[in-house]
Amino acid sequence: MSPEGKRILSGMQPTGRLHLGNLVGALENWVELQNSGYENFHMVADWHSLTINYQSSGQLNDATLEVVTDWLAAGIDPEKSVIFIQSQIKEHAELNLLLSMLITVPRLQRNPTLKDRVRDADLDENLSFGHLGYPVLQAADILIYRANLVPVGEDQLPHVEITREIARKFNSTYGEVFPVPEGKLTKFGRLPGLDNKKMSKTVGNTILMSDDAETLTKKIKGMITDPEKIYKDSLGHPDICPVFAYHNKFNESEVPEIRSGCESGVLGCVDCKQNLTGKLNDYLEPIREKRLRLELKPDSIHEIIHEGNLKAKKEVAETMSLVYEAMKFGKPSIS
Ligand code: TRP
Repeated sequence: MSPEGKRILSGMQPTGRLHLGNLVGALENWVELQNSGYENFHMVADWHSLTINYQSSGQLNDATLEVVTDWLAAGIDPEKSVIFIQSQIKEHAELNLLLSMLITVPRLQRNPTLKDRVRDADLDENLSFGHLGYPVLQAADILIYRANLVPVGEDQLPHVEITREIARKFNSTYGEVFPVPEGKLTKFGRLPGLDNKKMSKTVGNTILMSDDAETLTKKIKGMITDPEKIYKDSLGHPDICPVFAYHNKFNESEVPEIRSGCESGVLGCVDCKQNLTGKLNDYLEPIREKRLRLELKPDSIHEIIHEGNLKAKKEVAETMSLVYEAMKFGKPSIS
């Protein structure tokens, strides 16, 4: 898809300070796309956070500010990208209502991402109406900007698929309003957590983008490695080692050497981790510096969000009038 005139919409829930999985799995992709000619809209999906954490609504404000600060530190440029907050643009909820008629409950129940969540969080009987409708709200987020491309991680592809179905259903029922958007996966897959499981804040196995050098060193020292590599000269299996997965991402040029060193028993885990610590520090240092500078000017971040919300509002007003026109909502006729 050529970038000219094409629009990107992506979102993240406000989870507070972001971790390396967010950086590698999403943010870096956003920055790259931002610099290749697309029109970019990036949204903090605070309403979506309520699907699981409805009791913690009071934390969303601070968490939102942390997320936006990390976006800016990682290179999202407010001159090129619109940064806005979902709950500030009320029309997302309005479109959510209209779109919710265009998809069946069984279809939403078949959503594999939901099934995983229900299993992981043991929701079963406690699944809320709002949580079942998560992808419909996401479809509204995307379609209300008439976006063409949605950069997401793999777990979100089913939601993009549902968005496509809803867009087609709307267009065929009422008339063409929405482009059918495409998902775009990140180049680099998932980065494992310190314990080689999925990186997640709730599990506590993350490295944060904003961790200082000392914290980073400690965390890498404590990382799990190949359990069979007990001694320095044991023969290792890099492909199952999370430290190696990090080298793959942050130290690409030395990967062949590290692989053969690990496999042949020449390279031990202590040295391998030390090497990674240095590379990762180099990688994160400019991001940390930028974050520290931003933290000194919280007003400027609020201003960026305010400007972004205004731009978003302008777009959604246009879409909503197209939607109501297509649906032939108008002034009630008096006979
Ligand atoms: N569901 C996404 C996630 O948890 C966040 C999100 C909300 C989103 N609305 C979106 C992502 C629209 C892309 C487009 O990661």
